[in-house]
Amino acid sequence: IPVENLLAQGITSVPEAYIQPHPPIYGSQRGNSTQIPVIDLTLPEEEITDAIARACKDWGFFQVISHGVAQEIVDGMLQAAKDFFDLPMAVRMKYFSATPIPKTTGYSVRFDNSSVVDWRDFLFQSLCYPPCSDAVKESCPSDPPHYRDSSARYCEAMHDLGRKLLRYVSRGLGLESNRIEQSLEELHHSMLMNRYLPCPQPELVLALRSHTDPNVISLLVDNGVPGLQVLKDGAWITVHSLPGAIVVNMGDQLEIMSNGKYKSAEHRALANSDSTRYSIASFFEPPPAGPLIAPFPELVNAQEESQFQAVCYRDYLAIFFAKQASGKSVITQVKK
Ligand code: OGA
Ligand code: NI
Repeated sequence: IPVENLLAQGITSVPEAYIQPHPPIYGSQRGNSTQIPVIDLTLPEEEITDAIARACKDWGFFQVISHGVAQEIVDGMLQAAKDFFDLPMAVRMKYFSATPIPKTTGYSVRFDNSSVVDWRDFLFQSLCYPPCSDAVKESCPSDPPHYRDSSARYCEAMHDLGRKLLRYVSRGLGLESNRIEQSLEELHHSMLMNRYLPCPQPELVLALRSHTDPNVISLLVDNGVPGLQVLKDGAWITVHSLPGAIVVNMGDQLEIMSNGKYKSAEHRALANSDSTRYSIASFFEPPPAGPLIAPFPELVNAQEESQFQAVCYRDYLAIFFAKQASGKSVITQVKK
């Protein structure tokens, strides 16, 4: 039963299917005062490159401010997502998809076959760029009416920011700025709108269970309600993003390409009892049937042997969706 129907029934306790085997909040309060790195994108380029390189090594997570994406564009996208979720269930179900594999746009409540269900529903848009292309227009919901325009403007802006960040990440690895993008041949861009409704017993559930993102790099915005946590040195740290900041995290493909120099960060989202949280994740990824992803030869030498098998992104996603996406379990499958 979807979360919103449970809430409409006025439940005061969470059904079995949503209850985590180990209470998620216990033992996770440590380190809450630590803040993930904040990087100002108007600093001199050398400073940005160094700050990003450090954040990638230490955290796999950071937030950017003064990033050049207009707040009005972000707000328009958050509103479009909210308006989608506010549509009658019957309308949303027109977009229902059981498996968010590449090339599928879909509304759903779960993305794998795990026995415990996350406290969320989501809309996945598999193709976001270029926004004016017919393929993207087709993959975009036509309800609510302003969704297409808002998402086109948002994706255009996020695409520019994503590419800029990939150039900094490349340089931070000691490579040419266009090295990562060139190796992908074509930069794919998809998007996930998450809704986390209030939960009567938030301490028993996860809004989104622990995972690493399978793609190269992800950008995230939310509506200001906290919930996201990142695992750092064994402790779950709540991300308190600054107003207007965009949260950036490294995915598994970047860990592979960097030969483990940069780690994909394990993260999750907690539920809360008061407010609905919306988040929008933009995923930058290799084309599904594109080039094999492997450590850059420049980063592999006698002392640092290649740690990963070469893998095609479509095959990687198949492991991701089959493995229930828990913790770092996916990338270990392609470790040598
Ligand atoms: C994701 C994700 C975190 C959040 O969609 O991959 O990690 O805070 N979202 O919603
Ligand atoms: Ni994620």
